[in-house]
Amino acid sequence: MTKKIAPSMMCADYRTLPALLDTFAETGIEYLHIDIMDGVFVKNFTLGTDYCKRLRSMTDIPLDIHMMVTEPETKIGWFEPKEGEYVSIHYEATNHLQRALAEIKKYGAKPMVALNPATPLCVMDYILDDIDAVLLMTVNPGFAGQKIVPKMFDKVRDCRKYLDERGYSHVEIEVDGNVNFPNTVKLAAAGADIYVAGTSSVFMGEDITGNIAKMRRIFNGEDLGE
Ligand code: DX5
Ligand code: ZN
Repeated sequence: MTKKIAPSMMCADYRTLPALLDTFAETGIEYLHIDIMDGVFVKNFTLGTDYCKRLRSMTDIPLDIHMMVTEPETKIGWFEPKEGEYVSIHYEATNHLQRALAEIKKYGAKPMVALNPATPLCVMDYILDDIDAVLLMTVNPGFAGQKIVPKMFDKVRDCRKYLDERGYSHVEIEVDGNVNFPNTVKLAAAGADIYVAGTSSVFMGEDITGNIAKMRRIFNGEDLGE
């Protein structure tokens, strides 16, 4: 599977948004990762429904909406998910995971299940037919700028194997949290497909185009990520 980059829009400087979106279009960015936090599931607030609406009016790049909210099944519709977009909901946030994933599909969007670092892969045993991707949190969700949980490299490798062995090789693995250049090298070797790029990579320093190019070189094995 082609490896993809999803810049984390909570890390973007909104004063330069139009130019930034042009850069993303020119560099072939595949998704825009939108962090939704409700102050309950995680201790923070970030982006919301209006932001998603505005962003869609400014770009054709599909959104990748990461719902870090309790009872997501009651809130999916608020975002009016579109065809081609990803919407992820946390296993830990709902008693009705299957129903919530099915709800995302009803809108024509692609359902993704998100797992916190401590959550085992086996919770996906009976929802594999309901997902297009799994989001493995590589930090505990809530804040940008954290350090990766080291055990997550094994988890990504185990997850690829888990999916392949069950005949779900088409299910993509997204990684989110401290996806810096050296960690990207290891996550790529472990089999991650979609890379949420925040303060650790794409938004580090001034050279966003250069940072994106470096990520792609790492994907191609042409850069050691140093
Ligand atoms: C949380 C966020 C963060 C962040 C990623 O769900 O998605 O993980 O923006 O960027 P880093 O960790 O590089 O600041
Ligand atoms: Zn996220």
